[in-house]
Amino acid sequence: MAFIIKCLDCGHNTPYHPSSIACPKCSSQWREAEYDYELIGKDLPAKLTSRPFDLWRYRELLPVRNPNVSLSLGEGGTPLIRAVNLGMMLGCPNIFIKDERQGPTSSFKDRQASVTIAALKEAGITEIVAASTGNVAISYSAYASRAGMKLWAFVTSLVPSVKMREIALYGSQVIKITGSYDQCKQVAAEFAHQRNLYLDMGARTITSIEGMKTIAYEIAEQLTAVEGASPNAPWRTPDWYVQAISGGMGPLGVYKGFREMQQMGWVDKIPAFAPIQAEGCAPMVNSWKKGLEKAQPVTSPMTHIETLATGDPGRAYEFLRDYVDKTNGVFESVSDQDAYRAMHVLAKMEGISAEPAAGVAFAGLFKLIRAGIIKSTDTVVVNCTGHTVSADPSILGENWSRDIKFPSAQETPQEGLLSALTQVAPERFPKIVLVEDTAEARRLIRRILQSQGNFTILEAENGREGLELIQRELRIWSS
Ligand SMILES: Cc1ncc(COP(=O)(O)O)c(C=O)c1O
Ligand SMILES: [Zn+2]
Repeated sequence: MAFIIKCLDCGHNTPYHPSSIACPKCSSQWREAEYDYELIGKDLPAKLTSRPFDLWRYRELLPVRNPNVSLSLGEGGTPLIRAVNLGMMLGCPNIFIKDERQGPTSSFKDRQASVTIAALKEAGITEIVAASTGNVAISYSAYASRAGMKLWAFVTSLVPSVKMREIALYGSQVIKITGSYDQCKQVAAEFAHQRNLYLDMGARTITSIEGMKTIAYEIAEQLTAVEGASPNAPWRTPDWYVQAISGGMGPLGVYKGFREMQQMGWVDKIPAFAPIQAEGCAPMVNSWKKGLEKAQPVTSPMTHIETLATGDPGRAYEFLRDYVDKTNGVFESVSDQDAYRAMHVLAKMEGISAEPAAGVAFAGLFKLIRAGIIKSTDTVVVNCTGHTVSADPSILGENWSRDIKFPSAQETPQEGLLSALTQVAPERFPKIVLVEDTAEARRLIRRILQSQGNFTILEAENGREGLELIQRELRIWSS
C-alpha cells in the first residue's frame, strides 16, 4: 500500500520504517501516516461491499504493505450495539456501545497490536519491548506469538495477577515494576536502549494510531446501516464519541479516522470527543479544566483502576485538547466508585460485563447526560474498551461498591434518577415501595435497585395504590 510518514511538527515526509522513530529533519517523534486520499476516497467504497467486516477491510488505509492473513486473529469488526435499556433509563434513546470486548484478547488494544505487529513483522523485527498497564501487553503477546516474535512486557505491580499470567502464557517475558506506570515506561525504555531493541512508543507509535482509527471507520459504517446516510455524506457520524483514556491513544486514532473520512467526503462531520479519566489519575481532565496548554502530570496516581494510570500524558494531551476543543467536546473525570457502579448497571441492564476501565467511560456518559452536556437527542457512541477479568477482587463480593474509598474522593450529591437510586443502601432502606405508572420503567428501576443489594421491592402503579400498599405494610409491621 502506498503511504508516507509526515512529521506533525515540520511537515517533512519520509518513507516508513518502524526503527526510525523521529523526523530526520526536526527530530520530532510525533508523525503520522498519510495516504492518497483522493484515489482511495474514490476506489475503496466499491471494494468494501465484498470484503469481510474486519479491520483489514480498510487495508488501503493501513501502514502495512502486504497484510499477512496468517497473523490475523479476527481483529476489528466488533458489533455496535444499541443500549436500549440504558437509553430508556437516561432519557437518551440513541446510545450505542462499540463492543471492543469482542476483540481476540477482549480489548480494543487488539487493533493497535494487530497493525503494529504486522508492520514489525514486515520489517523483519523479531524482538520487542513494551510497557503496559495490562491489556497492551496481553494483546501484543498474542500477536507476537503468532508472528514468532519475542516480547519483553514491563508491567506495574498493580496489574492484576490474572492479567500477568495471561501475558506469560503467550510466551512473553513479564517484568513486574513496583512503581508508577511512568516509572515502568522509563525502565522499559532503558532496557530497550541497552539491548538495542524495538521499543513501543505508546501514542507516538504510528502503526498503533492507524490501528485505532479503524474504530472510527467501523462506527461510521455501522451507524449508517442502522440510521441511514447523513443528509450531506454517504456515511453517518455520531454526535459524541465517549472513551476512557490513559495515554489517549484511542481518541487520537479515532479522531484521525473521522478526519480522513471527512477529507474523502465519506462523512460530513467529526463527532464531539469526550475522553474520560479516573479522578485519582486525571492529568488531562484537570489540565483542560484549568485551561492549561501543557499537561500537569500526576506523580502519584490514586486510583484502583490501574489500566488508566498514565500520570504524565506528555504531548498527547496537547493534541487531544485541540481535538476536544475543535469538536466542542469535553474532558471529564469520575470516581472509582462511580466506575464500579456503572459497570454493575451496564451488566445488569445491557448484559455487558466490562472491565473497570470501560466502566469509567460509562460513568462519564451518565455524568455528561446528567449535566445536560450530552443532549437527549444526541447520538452517542461509547467505546466499551475491555472485558472484565473474572477474578478481579475489587469488584467481586457483597459490598463491592462500598469497599474503596480514597481520602481525596469527595461525595458530591448529584441530581437524577440514577444517582438517587445509587444513594439507597439496603441496610438503611431494606424494603422499598416502587410507585411508577409504566411497567417498563418499574422493571428498569427494580433492576437498578437489585444491582445494589438485597432489597424487598413492592410495586404500585399509582400514588393511591402506593399509599394503600404502604399503609398495609405498616399495619403488618406494627401488629
Ligand atoms: C480497557 C482499556 N480501556 C481504556 C484504555 C485507555 O486507552 P488509551 O488511553 O490508550 O486510549 C486502556 C488502555 O490500556 C484499556 O486497556
Ligand atoms: Zn519534522
